[in-house]
Amino acid sequence: MERTFLMVKPDGVQRNLIGEIVSRFEKKGFQLVGAKLMMIDQGLAEKHYQEHKDKPFFNELVDFITSGPVFAMVWEGNNVISVARSMMGKTNPQEAASGTVRGDYGLSVGMNIIHGSDSLESAKREIALFFNETELIDYKKEI
Ligand code: CMP
Repeated sequence: MERTFLMVKPDGVQRNLIGEIVSRFEKKGFQLVGAKLMMIDQGLAEKHYQEHKDKPFFNELVDFITSGPVFAMVWEGNNVISVARSMMGKTNPQEAASGTVRGDYGLSVGMNIIHGSDSLESAKREIALFFNETELIDYKKEI
């Protein structure tokens, strides 16, 4: 079963949106297999955003993601990577459709509430960066 890495960013945590965001993915039918509230240090931030290291906004991005707690999650389900990306909306909240997380709650391209892996390869990389195997729970829904 496909897995993705999703993270409520510091702005989403500050604005009490963890519950709302978890609820959207639960109601969609995806299964939460790992989650934790945590601080990201400089080293982890730089690794996580390594593909953006040459972008002009890289330092701003690292400063923001290390500025306060994030809620890191691993979700499982059919096509969860692309469906979660649709549910998140476009990177720039001003272009994101209503009904998406960023369209409904995001303020700016930097403060856009949520991060989600954009491919199978980045999902594997990001899950391994943030979680140990023992923190991911494989279980069947009985009800
Ligand atoms: P995310 O999905 O976390 O992946 C990379 C992030 O870079 C993206 O969300 C945005 O929050 C951020 N980003 C993209 N473009 C800009 C920009 N022009 N200025 C600041 N942050 C940006």
